[in-house]
This record gives sequence, C-alpha cells and structure tokens, in this order.
Amino acid sequence: MTDHILIERPQTAPGVLVIRFNRPDKKNAITSAMYQTMTAALTEANADPNIRAIAFLGSENCFSAGNDMGDFLSYAMSCSREPPAAAIFIKALALCEKPMVSGVDGLAIGIGTTLNLHCDLTIASDRSLFKTPFVDLALVPEAASSLLAPKIMGHQRAFAMLAAGEGFGADAALAAGLVWKVVVPGAVEAETLKLATSLAAKPPQALKIARELVRGPRDEVLARIDEELVHFTAQLKSPEARAAFEAFMKR
Ligand code: COA
Repeated sequence: MTDHILIERPQTAPGVLVIRFNRPDKKNAITSAMYQTMTAALTEANADPNIRAIAFLGSENCFSAGNDMGDFLSYAMSCSREPPAAAIFIKALALCEKPMVSGVDGLAIGIGTTLNLHCDLTIASDRSLFKTPFVDLALVPEAASSLLAPKIMGHQRAFAMLAAGEGFGADAALAAGLVWKVVVPGAVEAETLKLATSLAAKPPQALKIARELVRGPRDEVLARIDEELVHFTAQLKSPEARAAFEAFMKR
C-alpha cells in the first residue's frame, strides 16, 4: 500500500469509488506500489455490490506523467522475467466490471493517457495535454491502446498519438473522441463525480449489460495487451530504451 494513491468513497458521491493519484511532487508518476494499490482497488470494486462506479482523478494541473522513469530503469537493468506491476494493473482495468470515468486536469502522459481508453467517460480541463511518447522512449504502445485508439480516433490520429508522439490538447482530444467533455480546470472534479454518481444511481444490471454491449468482447483487448507486452518488455530491456531512461534521470 502507498499513500501516493488515495482510495476514497466520498459521502457526496454515493456508490462511487475514487482512485486518486497523489504524488504531485513527481507529477503523479506511477510506481509499482501505486499500480498494486490501484489493482487491489479495482479487484475490491468488482467484488463489492455497493461500489457501482469508479472515478479516476489526479491533482491540480496533473493527472499523471505516466510510468515512473526510475522504475522503468530498474526493470530495464534487472533480470526479471515477471510482468511489470503495470501489466497486472492494465489487465485489471480491462477486466473491470464497473463503469469507469476519469477527470483529467493538465498532464496525461503515457498510461496517464491510455488509462482513459478503458474509461467509459472522460472529463478534461481546457489545459489538458494527452501525450504518449512511447517511441521516443524506444517503447511501444501498451494497455491495448494500439487496438482501442484506432477504433476511437481512426488511424491517422491514433498513429499521430501512439507512434509519432504528438500531444493532443483538450480540444483535439475532444474532436478525436478521446474525451467526453471539456470544462474549466476548477470544474473537473465536480463534473467527474457528478457523472460517476449518476451512473452509480442507475439500475446496475442494465448498466452492466449496456456497458458490455458497447465495449464489445474483452478477449480481443486482453489478447492485444499480451501481444503489446511481449514487445514492450523486450524494448524495456533494449539499450536504446535504457539510454532514454538514463537521459531523463540525469536531466
Ligand atoms: N517518472 C519519474 N519522475 C517523474 C516523471 C516520471 N515519469 N515525470 C516527472 N517526474 C518528476 C521529475 O523528475 C521531477 O522530479 P524532481 O523535482 O525530483 O527533479 C518532478 O517530477 C517534476 O517534473 P519536471 O520534469 O520538473 O516538470 P515539468 O513540468 O518541467 O515537466 C513532464 C513535466 C511530465 C513533461 C516531464 O517531467 C516529463 O517529460 N516526464 C516524463 C514523462 C514520460 O515520458 N512518462 C513515461 C511515458 S511512457
């Protein structure tokens, strides 16, 4: 457990479990411990009938700067053949049975962006930036983003984001279908919780079926996560990726 992730059940949002990034001094970069805490929260949410919606939130002007670079470097230098904690979290996201919403204010980098592809609705502030610099770090897309992003955004925009590493501001993200609504920064949390609360109040079985129908079969998503993971873990240990992580750490 780590207090860099806060798990909350706000009284003002009945039926909602909030998973909040809480490492603002490191731009909410996500460590293995943080992935483990989030995985446990999703597992708990699936099993608890009182949790009827999940909301991901970050801190002021930062949703998340993605995977912790120090953790990337440690994994790159290790002999580990185990999947990284991120991979287990990503599968838990894909398998989550409750509706998920996210509220993004500011930076959403790497998995800070791809996580939203698994959310059913995303609220973003007008100062948000969605960016996945995978290839610049000598990595490849993860979290089934290579499958989900083209479905949502079309090939050109998905390629621009996932392969060319182009950043998408809030308006571009809205136009691409990556977010549901753009609001002013101060309204992100309230709007996200309002949405989550309204989902939590709906007949749960009907909402579950509707969600499954809209999302489609999970098998394809899980298979793509595995396919990406083979390349991702191999690239993580490549000299070009290690050089990119070291360059970031030495800045
Ligand atoms: N992993 C570890 N630490 C990170 C981090 C990450 N992904 N992103 C930011 N941080 C840390 C910085 O090292 C810095 O720590 P320090 O104060 O101890 O030096 C702190 O967070 C603030 O970051 P800083 O870079 O000074 O802020 P910025 O506003 O100038 O830039 C970013 C913000 C997000 C653009 C920049 O930090 C960045 O590019 N981070 C890496 C993002 C990334 O590539 N993630 C992986 C995607 S797969």
